[in-house]
Amino acid sequence: MPLQIIIGTQWGDEGKGRIVDWYAARGEYTARYNGGDNAGHTVTVGKQIFKLHLIPSGIIHPQMTAILGNGMVVNPQTLLEEMDMLRQAGVSVSSGRLRLSHAAHLITPAHQALDKALEGKRGTGQIGTTGRGIGPAYTDKAARRGLRVGDMLTPDFDARLGNHITEANRTLDMLGAPPLDPKPVCEIFLQSAAKLRPHIADTSLELHTALQNGKTVLAEGAQGTLLDIDLGTYPYVTSSSTTASGALIGLGLGLDAACNATVTGVVKAFQTRVGSGPFPTEVFDELGRRLRGSGEHPWDEYGTTTGRPRRVGWLDGVLLKYAVRVNGVSELAVTKLDILSGMECLQLCTAYRFNGQLLTELPLVPADLDHFEPVYDELPGWSGDISAARNVSDLPPAAIAYLDRLVSLTGIPVRLVSVGPEREQVVKY
Ligand code: IMP
Repeated sequence: MPLQIIIGTQWGDEGKGRIVDWYAARGEYTARYNGGDNAGHTVTVGKQIFKLHLIPSGIIHPQMTAILGNGMVVNPQTLLEEMDMLRQAGVSVSSGRLRLSHAAHLITPAHQALDKALEGKRGTGQIGTTGRGIGPAYTDKAARRGLRVGDMLTPDFDARLGNHITEANRTLDMLGAPPLDPKPVCEIFLQSAAKLRPHIADTSLELHTALQNGKTVLAEGAQGTLLDIDLGTYPYVTSSSTTASGALIGLGLGLDAACNATVTGVVKAFQTRVGSGPFPTEVFDELGRRLRGSGEHPWDEYGTTTGRPRRVGWLDGVLLKYAVRVNGVSELAVTKLDILSGMECLQLCTAYRFNGQLLTELPLVPADLDHFEPVYDELPGWSGDISAARNVSDLPPAAIAYLDRLVSLTGIPVRLVSVGPEREQVVKY
């Protein structure tokens, strides 16, 4: 399994971090290929809870080398803070095991200020961004005026950063937002550059060489399929390629790397979404509160990055089939099955009704979802706690029937099922 790409099949927050952690017990490289610190990947190891925003989750395993790929947008300040957090938790972040692509783009305070100011102007059309500057950083990248990690090492970086802030100030002014003072921003960036310099590398070459030598690379997608800039519920999406193909571009790998790749599609046993946008199977009131949790546990449905309550709903099988198709998913990892325990019956959306027609595939693009009425299969629930299950035979028949329904719906095998937040709370299916 030389390249394994682990992606979210929904709107993010599927529990990719813990699935990466499971696979990372073996292998040599763990790599992020898209997004930035808008992501929030949680790994629970005993009493330690790691909340990672930028660094790939596999770093917690000592044999792993962690890569931040060229497809990412990196806020150096957040990266340094996250490195400190890991160091304090006893995880090595030496330059030998944490490598940062010279071609990844930088997120500056100007990008963050622009993100917030632009959201403010959108009024009722707000995307509900994380405010981390992701959209503006990718905008600069596409406009070919972005600042890259490798630029921090060049003698004219100071001047280029200053120009970038001055340009951004013009836009902030038009948006009615306060300007930034370039001097402290430049100073902080130069300090960060000095600290990050040993980590900056040609990560594309490093990963290519590793794969050529038979090493295993785990590519960890951030966000989820339905937030992909091209294939998601546009415009309510993030600004990067979250899907499996994004791993090749975002890590600088060729199509040969995809030949033997495994694509693990992580799917939460129900559906969640943060931010705005269509959500056909969304539920509210008592059922919504039941699925979301009270907020007192780290695994309740509140954003890891923003703390916002997530919208919740029944699992959408039509969207899952779509995610399987556009990612080329080869196996499924189902998370949070334990949260459904104790529910009398479960609804699984298998089609939409639209203009008197029954649709089992998306007819156009997911952006039209708002107009579709979900059609549900009703499945029996199960009572009792399944968090101690480690084998399929430990699961109640109704839980097995629910998982088998996902297999028959998608035609893809389920390989792993998580039944609790702890590292070992996994059933091999
Ligand atoms: P942005 O990525 O901050 O620009 O936000 C765009 C949309 O993606 C918003 O709806 C966010 O809530 C959502 N989003 C971004 N990152 C994540 C994530 O890691 N999990 C879930 N939703 C996310």
